[in-house]
Amino acid sequence: MNKPVIAANWKMNMTKKTAGILLRKINESVSITSEVIIIPPFTLLDMAYEILDNKIKLGAQNCYWKKSGAFTGEISPQMLVDIGCKYVIIGHSERRHIFGESDALLHKKLIAAIDAGLTPIYCVGETLEEKRKGKREFVLNRQLDTINGISSLIVAYEPVWAIGTGVAADIATIRETIELIKLKLKEKSVDATVLYGGSVKPDNSKEIAKQHIIDGVLVGGASLDAESFLKIIDSFKR
Ligand code: PGA
Repeated sequence: MNKPVIAANWKMNMTKKTAGILLRKINESVSITSEVIIIPPFTLLDMAYEILDNKIKLGAQNCYWKKSGAFTGEISPQMLVDIGCKYVIIGHSERRHIFGESDALLHKKLIAAIDAGLTPIYCVGETLEEKRKGKREFVLNRQLDTINGISSLIVAYEPVWAIGTGVAADIATIRETIELIKLKLKEKSVDATVLYGGSVKPDNSKEIAKQHIIDGVLVGGASLDAESFLKIIDSFKR
């Protein structure tokens, strides 16, 4: 993808009322030079699809790997396509660490998402303990090995220690890691757009946007406020 990608991961936040206000503000104010993706909880996808112009894309935070059937509580990639999604986050660190999703399961989800016509936003990143033990590269390699039989996707480098902490990784670390990820994926003949995520805010997004090796950002907390999310989008008019 040539345009920068700016994705808003709302996580388990927002009601119909608060989401309606936020979506309308974003939709009215945004001037688009980037691929802007709104990723609300499942319950708000339909409403977001109705409110947003098609210049802003819709994504989901997770999916299962089966098309349909007796899987109570799960949502299939086909259902996400049916409701207007173009993207789906796979392997967010909260799915890996709170819900115990394994690389093997994530591989199935990646394949299922692609088969349904969705573009996965596949999250990778080391924990603080893995960072302290110098295992970042080892962990990333293992997580990237899950990308098999896939020719194109979005990868988000999200160091777990930077998510929701208010402290993003420093630019040198982001650059170095994204370079590493791009190299590894090139070796695997995978065409990847690589984002950074973890405490992206209006006060660090300009510096991040200046680095052309970084193809965009995955934003959590700062995407829940129209003003801060719009400022982040503005930073990427590069
Ligand atoms: P954050 O979350 O921006 O709140 O750190 C990012 C993410 O988890 O995708």
